[in-house]
Amino acid sequence: MSIEERDPVSGYLTTGHVWNGITELNSPVPRIVFAFMVVTHLYALVAWFLLPAWPLGQTFTKGLLGIDQKTAVAADIAAANADRAGWMNALATHDFDAIRADPDLMARALATAEPLFGQNCQVCHGANGIGGPGYPRLNDDIWVWGGTADEIATTLRVGINADHPDTHFAQMPAFGRDGLLTGAEISVLTDYVQTLGAGVMADDPSDGALLFQTNCAGCHGEDARGISGSGAPNLTDGDWLYGGDAANLRHGLVAGRQGQMPSWQSRLTEAEIRAMALYVEGLSGTAP
Ligand code: HEC
Ligand code: HEC
Repeated sequence: MSIEERDPVSGYLTTGHVWNGITELNSPVPRIVFAFMVVTHLYALVAWFLLPAWPLGQTFTKGLLGIDQKTAVAADIAAANADRAGWMNALATHDFDAIRADPDLMARALATAEPLFGQNCQVCHGANGIGGPGYPRLNDDIWVWGGTADEIATTLRVGINADHPDTHFAQMPAFGRDGLLTGAEISVLTDYVQTLGAGVMADDPSDGALLFQTNCAGCHGEDARGISGSGAPNLTDGDWLYGGDAANLRHGLVAGRQGQMPSWQSRLTEAEIRAMALYVEGLSGTAP
């Protein structure tokens, strides 16, 4: 194989390698390829000096141009965080009027709250707060615990029948199960409550009205319009958390009602709770 052989056609020496009868010529690298290799190698050499290139343990050669995308990205992230910390802090500390008066901050509050609502609230309160049996609508004007951002923020912090020490209590007694009323009295009250949409007449002498004033008015009010802060809802507005049909009313009177909403204080930050309160306040009255 080491015998020098010359190709009779091209005149080049052969390398002595033969594959399947094809002999390799010892011809020079084509000029264009050679030039390309020279240029790329030169570029690599120059780049080593100008750009970040060689790892040096914890650090690396920085390059004469000072181009460093890692620090550029870190700086961008730090700037974004500082910006976010600024308005998150404003959300947590400014009073609601000041936030409402600042369109930029208000826009950020709503943009923060909307996805949080989807993640945390929609499962019970429905998309856009449309509610469902046992879960109140948040897009109407009917509020048991108040519909201003301040009141909503409090409801979110303490929850309803939740494990927070200051939780809102909403306990409708189990009149039937606990023997406070007889089955006959519950039937009378079931009928009576269905007539309340028309309002309560103070001089109504019916059995239902008497039973109501004795057993129910203490929480729901003599006019049955609810007592704010007691958790007992208005029974005259035609809006029912659990349904206004006889079966649902009877069930509530027999077994009681204690809807539960968790306290969000440990699940959301103060800024998030306040953003959410503004968002829910904005849902109010958007029901079609
Ligand atoms: C100790 C206070 C208390 C008393 C007394 C009480 N309620 Fe209630 N009632 C509540 C509370 C609180 C709720 C709301 C429960 C909830 O949110 O889960 C409620 C809910 C209801 C509901 C359901 C409303 C809806 O929107 O679905 C009806 C109906 C009702 N009460 C009727 C009565 C009647 C009739 C009586 C008298 C027999 C009565 N309540 C006595 C506190 C009371
Ligand atoms: C596990 C189900 C559940 C989740 C999750 C939930 N809620 Fe509630 N929420 C309820 C129930 C049930 C009530 C009514 C409790 C009662 O019976 O009084 C309620 C009541 C409320 C009220 C009071 C309404 C009024 O009339 O005063 C507001 C405001 C509220 N929720 C907002 C939210 C927001 C905002 C979120 C998300 C951060 C959320 N809820 C998540 C179940 C839930």
